[in-house]
Amino acid sequence: MDAMNRPRCAEDALKDLTAGLGANAVLVGADIPARNCNDWSTQLPQRPLAVVRPVDATEVSQAVRACRAAGLPFVPQGGMTGLCGGATPQAGWVAISLERMVGVEEIDPASATMTVKAGTPLEAIQAAADAAGFLFPLDLGSRGSCAIGGNLSTNAGGNRVIRYGMMRDLVLGLEVVLPDGTILTSLNKLLKNNAGYDLKHLFIGSEGTLGIVTRIVLRLFPRPRSTMAALCALTRYEDVVALLAGARNGLGPILSAFEVMWPDYWEVVTQRLRVRAPIGPDHGFYVLVETHGADEESDGARFQAWLEEMLEQGVLADAAVAQSGVQVAQFWGVRDACAEFGQALGPHVSYDIGLVVARMDEFAMRCKAALAAGVPGCDSVYYGHIGDGNLHLVAWVPGLAIERQPKEAMDAIIYGLVREMGGSVSAEHGIGTMKKKWLDHARSEPEIALMRVLKAALDPDHLLNPGKVISP
Ligand code: FAD
Ligand code: LAC
Ligand code: ZN
Repeated sequence: MDAMNRPRCAEDALKDLTAGLGANAVLVGADIPARNCNDWSTQLPQRPLAVVRPVDATEVSQAVRACRAAGLPFVPQGGMTGLCGGATPQAGWVAISLERMVGVEEIDPASATMTVKAGTPLEAIQAAADAAGFLFPLDLGSRGSCAIGGNLSTNAGGNRVIRYGMMRDLVLGLEVVLPDGTILTSLNKLLKNNAGYDLKHLFIGSEGTLGIVTRIVLRLFPRPRSTMAALCALTRYEDVVALLAGARNGLGPILSAFEVMWPDYWEVVTQRLRVRAPIGPDHGFYVLVETHGADEESDGARFQAWLEEMLEQGVLADAAVAQSGVQVAQFWGVRDACAEFGQALGPHVSYDIGLVVARMDEFAMRCKAALAAGVPGCDSVYYGHIGDGNLHLVAWVPGLAIERQPKEAMDAIIYGLVREMGGSVSAEHGIGTMKKKWLDHARSEPEIALMRVLKAALDPDHLLNPGKVISP
């Protein structure tokens, strides 16, 4: 047993770490930044005992072993943009932040892969891929702040799942520090590799409960030579469903996003946040349709012809087509504006339910009515990645601080309806702490039991992000 593995008190463990990793790597007391105390889920912040900021897998392993020796719970942290409390520490925990593990290690053009450090912001990865003539297609509103290790650990979805899949589909290999400090290096670059269990999938989407991811091999795609976008206005939800089917058939493989906004969302974004939109109000639904193609001229003609067909068929009430890259970005600005909801609505609770496409509006109508009737003063707005069967809503009672928002009552109504309609309590944000109580609305008892078996096998002492997703 080496010195790090002997039982230590917390203070000694942190002293060891400071000696081993350098004073800059271990922050305590007043030096702990506010950003490490809470994710974006608008819960109350929790100050950890320390924030450790390693620079590579060896240092992460040292931090893990030191925490274990002192019996200290530890939580991995990326960009802290998670929406369910997964990266939020508790008093007495050590936060292991990947914020100094930033950078692209390699781009392999022949394999179309990129190897990155897990703390690298998503936007930096998108930019590096673009500069090398490729596309890394994962895209979320939090792109500037979230880290790729956090994206992997939440199996992030976002705006282009309809075309390129979720994060799980974009990862070929990884390096991960297991809860006992072992470094598992599995930086596979092969698209096809059936040599035994594909262990990376254990860590993708497990919200930092099974290991700390330190490096990742990502799949790259050809950089699109043309991007088209239209903001469409529709009257009825049946039209939205018809537009989606029409886009799949008429645009085929170039369809890259299909984002739907309900009128309550439109009102908040265009009236309260004053975001400029290219089409007027008073429509039943708004849809942002985007394509990624290989030929500007033919894609443009095809897109235009398809929109005209949708107008002629009466599916569309109105549509504005982006005439430049700047306008494409402006159209996305309407969709990305939900990042500013805090400013417009005050404290609120975010939801990300999964549901079959055909029943989204039925859910939205029933949910809005049930919240208004069951929770005094409660308002809610609806939007999401409807092409992927993923509806977002935010619910809030105006004027109440976050700790006074009636989350339990809202949860019970929303997740009760999700269960009744056969949906999922989380399509993309994960469970963390905020949805733990409701996991059994979307997963069976044997599924949850197997999750517990896996957790106990990798982390028998329950020191890695304990109590997140599932309880022991
Ligand atoms: P964090 O919040 O730091 O951590 C998230 C979880 O991963 C925690 O459980 C943490 O312990 C764990 N973790 C972090 N890094 C590691 C690591 N290296 N190893 C092991 N575990 C780790 N999500 C979507 O899926 N789709 C969206 O469209 C989307 N849009 C968003 C828009 C906005 C404005 C905001 C604020 C959030 C949005 N999110 C979205 C949620 C969030 O951005 C994603 O969940 C993102 O993947 C989290 O990344 P992060 O680096 O911020 O992770
Ligand atoms: C979005 C986040 C909330 O899609 O997932 O905007
Ligand atoms: Zn989303």
